[in-house]
Amino acid sequence: MTVFDSKDKFQITAKTHHGLEDVLSEELKQLGAEDITKMTRAVGFKGDMQLLYKANLHLRTALRILVPIYKFKASNETWLYRGVQKVDWSKYLTEKDTIALDSAVNSPIFKNSQYVFLKAKDAIVDQFRNKTGIRPNVDLDDPTVRINVYIQNDEVILSLDSSGSSLHKRGYRNEVNEAPLNEALAAGLILMSGWDKQSNFIDPMCGSGTILIEAAMIVHNIAPNLHRKKFGFMNWNNFDKPLWDRIFNEASESKSDFNLSISGSDISPEAVRMAKGNIRAAGLQDKITLTRKDFVKIEPPAGKSTLIMNPPFGERMQPEDLNDLYKSIGDTLKQKFPGSEAWILSSNLEALKCIGLRTSKKIILHAGPLELRFNNYSLYAGL
Ligand SMILES: C[S@@+](CC[C@H](N)C(=O)[O-])C[C@H]1O[C@@H](n2cnc3c(N)ncnc32)[C@H](O)[C@@H]1O
Repeated sequence: MTVFDSKDKFQITAKTHHGLEDVLSEELKQLGAEDITKMTRAVGFKGDMQLLYKANLHLRTALRILVPIYKFKASNETWLYRGVQKVDWSKYLTEKDTIALDSAVNSPIFKNSQYVFLKAKDAIVDQFRNKTGIRPNVDLDDPTVRINVYIQNDEVILSLDSSGSSLHKRGYRNEVNEAPLNEALAAGLILMSGWDKQSNFIDPMCGSGTILIEAAMIVHNIAPNLHRKKFGFMNWNNFDKPLWDRIFNEASESKSDFNLSISGSDISPEAVRMAKGNIRAAGLQDKITLTRKDFVKIEPPAGKSTLIMNPPFGERMQPEDLNDLYKSIGDTLKQKFPGSEAWILSSNLEALKCIGLRTSKKIILHAGPLELRFNNYSLYAGL
């Protein structure tokens, strides 16, 4: 019996960024997942098809939702090939499907993940060719079925990717500036900040608007992937369209509506233009206000605010200019936002030191190869 026949609960893995495992586990708990187990860059859990669809639609910090279908040990490429061939792939796809394989390899035996990809792909397409004379084609950009090969030492896990393209591609971001934040990471920052969803929310260096859009979706209870048209599971031969329609309609109707100040600004007119377009694409133009402004000239709203910002890291700036910018951020926070909470995301430790405020909390995150600091500054009055 496979997950495709199963009416019962089965094992599922949600992948995420390094550092967001806790917040993803909490999201899964809220969604009703069972047997939640934290791993590195992933969280395992148990659920049924309904939870699988919901996980794709509702999880803000997940990147992919995988369904493991076969585990085996392989001590060399021949055993890898044989292991992949043990699966009856005709249960999951036909020769008319197009496939892509993602591989994550952490093993002294298999050092080249490209080679793992080729071996596993050959094992799948050879199985079809031997049976029917026709083989599924590879389409790396937009396959109908995506397969994940994870290797840890000699243990291989083959999974079906129920998401298709990465879940951070929400479907609202049409334009991006030079260093856009990953949407799942942006959502993770907001959830980790402990924002009370009542005080003002500000991103004063908003770039293409990702943090603002994710914050508005969180506070208005909008499922992060409501705007996304395609998910991998829609191409599976067991796709339960009535079940999906019900889950989607429930999510569409559960938006909450109330007034709250979410505001963004950026020094660059081009960034403000892009952010405007993305906010409109997300249908949030009535929920977020945008202005073009240098942060040092910001006029703070009345009452307590939570600020989350992601200043330039330094790739395109001289170190002295960057240090001056970070110093001006610290000074502005201190002068204009007493009683508020500020969070700054940056990979530049030198520049962060120039903020000159006492850090209340430090969180380490990873986005791809980049190590990031997410620092909290509680701006007590009279600081
Ligand atoms: C790393 S980007 C932010 C990316 C954004 N989080 C996103 O997802 O697109 C940094 C932004 O800070 C803006 N910026 C730099 N100096 C600024 C200042 N003094 N005041 C306001 N914005 C500034 C830049 O124009 C840029 O858009």
